[in-house]
Amino acid sequence: MARTIGCIGCGNMGGALIGGFAELMKDGEYAFCGCNRSPERMKTLEEKGVAALTGAESVAEQADIILLAVKPAQVAEALCGIRHTLNADKIVVSVAAGISLKRLAEGVDGRCPVVRCMPDTPALVGKGVFAFCFAEGIKGKVKNEVLELFGRLGQCFELPETKFAAFSALVGAGPAYVFEMMHGLVQAGVTLGFTHADARRMVAGLFEGCAAMAQRDGAHLMQMRDAVCSPGGLTIAGVNVLDRKGLCGMLVDAVLAADARGREMEK
Ligand SMILES: NC(=O)c1ccc[n+]([C@@H]2O[C@H](COP(=O)([O-])OP(=O)(O)OC[C@H]3O[C@@H](n4cnc5c(N)ncnc54)[C@H](OP(=O)(O)O)[C@@H]3O)[C@@H](O)[C@H]2O)c1
Repeated sequence: MARTIGCIGCGNMGGALIGGFAELMKDGEYAFCGCNRSPERMKTLEEKGVAALTGAESVAEQADIILLAVKPAQVAEALCGIRHTLNADKIVVSVAAGISLKRLAEGVDGRCPVVRCMPDTPALVGKGVFAFCFAEGIKGKVKNEVLELFGRLGQCFELPETKFAAFSALVGAGPAYVFEMMHGLVQAGVTLGFTHADARRMVAGLFEGCAAMAQRDGAHLMQMRDAVCSPGGLTIAGVNVLDRKGLCGMLVDAVLAADARGREMEK
């Protein structure tokens, strides 16, 4: 019989995850269900094969793997409402930022294994980067199933919980840094006379290509940068400006500031 993945809170992130699973896994191995406080958000998911249920309790009753994707402040209330439906054969996977495994375990009253996950928004297009931390005692089979599932929507990293704030500062917040850099390059392209639409496509392709090279190539990133800088050429003229303005230091400072804020929020 098909196992069921259910999502409580099908907003931006929950909708992207359950919708992504439903689109990618049409082989009948899994069934999908979900609920959202405002039911209209379920419409597009239903078209992808996600059964829209009336509330969190029904989702938790039907699902073997329960994704919890409500806002962090709503987690305790949501868990309180489903606690009585949980048992050792179910798993709760929470993506709520800053909600520790301890709080999740308390929320489910120890009735089922809990997993903490930190996704990033490119999960929306099946190119996510996910961090996972599993409650102690979670068996290999459960772990493998979760990692295999999310692996379909991106790359998975198993991390100690102490590294979650750092991961959130680097990767969770990462799309904001990357879009900021893309925005600057698109603006430069428009300044040089390209249409906004063309500049955007060019810059998106540039990031995609560089990301693919960085994934594939073991070379040092600075070596890859220098390979583009011909002596006396135009690229080194541009790179010199970035070095003088301290782009690299700015990125380090941004991630450290986000990490500090994340730690403050976890207290
Ligand atoms: N978005 C990101 O980039 C990102 C990245 C990492 C982690 N996360 C985590 O993902 C979680 C969701 O964030 P989000 O950005 O997706 O927020 P969101 O779009 O507001 O989604 C949360 C959804 O939960 C629904 N909801 C609240 N209580 C509910 C309940 N008891 N039963 C059913 N549905 C309920 C809300 O319904 P309404 O539509 O009625 O408000 C809303 O659609 C957060 O915990 C966040 O920390 C998000």
